[in-house]
Amino acid sequence: MSNARGEWSSSFGFIMAAAGSAVGLGNLWKFPYLAGQHGGAAFVLLYLVFMVVIGVTILLAEITLGRGMRRNGIEAFAKVSKRLSWIGAMGLLAAVMILSFYGVIGGWIARYFLQVFMGGVAGDPKAFFGEFISHPWYPVLFQIGFMVATAFIVIRGIAGGIERGNKIMMPGLLILLIILGVRSVTLPGAGAGIDFFLNPDFSKITPASIVAALGQVFFSLSLGVGCMLTYGSYLNRNSDLKRCALTIPSLDTAVAFLAGFAILPAVFAFGFEPSEGPGLMFVSLPAVFNQMPFGFLFFGLFFLLAFFAALTSSISLLEIPVSWLVDAHQWHRRKAVIVCTIVITLIGIPSCLSFGPALGGFTFFGKTFFELVDFMASNVLMPIGGFCLCIVVGYIWGIDKAVEEITSGGRFPFRLHTIWAVMLRYVSPAALVIIFLDAVGLLRFLK
Ligand code: TRP
Repeated sequence: MSNARGEWSSSFGFIMAAAGSAVGLGNLWKFPYLAGQHGGAAFVLLYLVFMVVIGVTILLAEITLGRGMRRNGIEAFAKVSKRLSWIGAMGLLAAVMILSFYGVIGGWIARYFLQVFMGGVAGDPKAFFGEFISHPWYPVLFQIGFMVATAFIVIRGIAGGIERGNKIMMPGLLILLIILGVRSVTLPGAGAGIDFFLNPDFSKITPASIVAALGQVFFSLSLGVGCMLTYGSYLNRNSDLKRCALTIPSLDTAVAFLAGFAILPAVFAFGFEPSEGPGLMFVSLPAVFNQMPFGFLFFGLFFLLAFFAALTSSISLLEIPVSWLVDAHQWHRRKAVIVCTIVITLIGIPSCLSFGPALGGFTFFGKTFFELVDFMASNVLMPIGGFCLCIVVGYIWGIDKAVEEITSGGRFPFRLHTIWAVMLRYVSPAALVIIFLDAVGLLRFLK
C-alpha cells in the first residue's frame, strides 16, 4: 500500500528533500539581514539556541506523526482523532497561500537568472527592479514559468521526482554557495561585512530580537503547515528519525551561515547598506556584481543557486495538497499536480500584481495583497499550526506512541526522550504563543 503513494529510496534521499524544503529564500534573504540588524553573533547565538531547543523538537514531532500515520496532513491528524482534521486543513491552506507568493518571488529569480545571458543588470539595478516588478503582465509570465517547473518535478512522484531533483539541486546549491562565499570574503574591504555579521553586540538584543529569531527558526525549518509531516509520511521504519531531525536543521543552519558570508562581505566591500528582502537580493547584490571583475558570472551563479533554493522549497509546498488529493480522494498524481498548480498560480496572480499599478494601490489593513497573504500564512496560521502539532503529539497522540515510532519499536535508542517530552509539551507551545501574540500586535508594549 505504501508503494502506491510512494516512498523515499533511502534516508539520505529524505534528508536531501527535507533540507531542500528548509533551505530557501528564508536562508538567503532574511537570515543574513536579521543577524546584522539584531547584533550579529549575538543574534546568531540566540538563533542557534532556539534551533536546538525548539526547532529540533517540533521537527522531530512533525516527521514522527507523518511516519506514524503514513498519511497526508489532513488524514494524519484525523487518524489521531476525527475531530482534529481541521488542523491539517489549516496547514494545507497555509501551504497553498505560502506557495502562491513564493511562486512570485521564484519568478523574479528566474527572470534575473535569464538576465545573465543579456550581460547582467546593466545601468541602475534599482530602476531595473522597479520597472520589472511593476510591469502589468511580465512578472506573471515568470511566475507561471516557475510554477510549471515546480509541477514538472512533483508530477514525477516521490523517489523519481522530488528525491531525484533534490539530490541534484542541493549539492549544486552548496557548491555554488561556497564559491560565492570564498569570492565574497576575499574582496578588499570585506572585513566590515564580516564584522557586521559576526561581531556580537549584546546591547542590540531586545524582546523583538527574540521573537524574530523564533519566527525565523520556524519558517526556515518549514514547520507548522504539514510540510515535514507529509515528507515524513514517505519514510519507512528503517530510518532513524532522531538522526534525521538533527541533520536537517544542521544543513539548514549551515546554509544560512554560508549565505551570510556570501552576501554581507560583498555588500559592504562595495559600500552598500544591507537592506531586507527584495532590496538586498534584487538591488544591492546586482549592483555589487556590476562592480566586481567577472561580476556577471557571479551574478549568474548566485541566481542559479537562489533558483535551486526556491524550487526545492516550492516542490515541498506543492506536495502538501497533492498528497491529500492522492491519498484521500484517489486522484491520479498527474491530475492532482496539474489542478493544484493552476489553482495556486491563479491565487498568486493578485500577489504578483501587488507591485504594479493594477493592484499596488489596493491595501487591506495597510498591507498589499502580497503582504497580507504572507502575513496571514507565516505569522498567523503557521504558529497556530505549530502550537496544535505540539499539543496533538505531546498530549493527545501521546509521548509513548511517539517514542515508539521514533525508536522504530526499540530499534533506534532515544535516550533524551524525557527532555524532548518536556520541550514538546511545555517549552515549545509557550514559545509559539509568544510568536503569535507578537504577530497579532499584542506584545507591542515590549518594543
Ligand atoms: N523553509 C523555506 C524557506 O526558508 C520556505 C518553506 C518551504 C516553508 N516550505 C515551507 C515555510 C513550509 C513554511 C512552511 O524559505
